[in-house]
Amino acid sequence: MTFSGIIVAAGSGSRAGGDKQWRTLGGKPVLRWSAEALLNAGADELIIVVAPGAEPRVAEALAGLSHWRTVVGGDVRAQSVRAGLAALTGHADQPVLIHDAARPLLDRAVIDRLIAALSDADGALPALPVADSLRRGVDGRMAGVVEREGLWRAQTPQAFRRKTIEAAYAAWTGPDAPTDEAVVVEHHGGRVALVAGDPRLMKLTYPEDFAMAEALLSQATR
Ligand code: CTP
Ligand code: MG
Repeated sequence: MTFSGIIVAAGSGSRAGGDKQWRTLGGKPVLRWSAEALLNAGADELIIVVAPGAEPRVAEALAGLSHWRTVVGGDVRAQSVRAGLAALTGHADQPVLIHDAARPLLDRAVIDRLIAALSDADGALPALPVADSLRRGVDGRMAGVVEREGLWRAQTPQAFRRKTIEAAYAAWTGPDAPTDEAVVVEHHGGRVALVAGDPRLMKLTYPEDFAMAEALLSQATR
């Protein structure tokens, strides 16, 4: 099935020491991994949301690929997502997958699970059960246990039909920067499915995450 992809890549990567989406990982720019995964899985339009002036870096990172174009994002992730949504041209029922450039290790199986889940849900996101036991901390001291049962770590891509996500954003009256798209759809009364996530789909956030991602990549090709 064809779908639209939006990759948000307009962040500054401050916690990683800057510009993480353009760094090389396993021989390719970080952004290229996700773009190839979405295009190979059937994306027939791919919107890359970037900071002003970063368009040439996208052209360099995605050289040789087609069906992508850039739009300029905003100061916070939610604004970048909105800019990506505004650029879509697919039909109302077309699935839209919204993905973080900072999660390069996107497997086809995750994409397939998300699109399949849209047959009986209004949205879908990959999630992993929380493994560690959780504590509340106040001023560096333990202040009770948070029950782990029923808690999940949300990943991207997050998937919706175009008309669903657009209607949910049109009706949204919450904060300007909701946590993510699934929150907006859930708030609009939509049912959002949690599909099996993938530990490899880690987000590159801190400098040390790059070594972990390189290690995961080298395992996959062995
Ligand atoms: N993002 C975006 N527009 C923003 C902020 C973030 O498109 N204004 C994107 C990032 O490029 C990234 C994804 O949202 O692909 C997840 O955000 P995060 O991991 O927080 O990346 P950064 O915001 O770039 O990093 P940091 O918060 O450390 O500055
Ligand atoms: Mg950020």
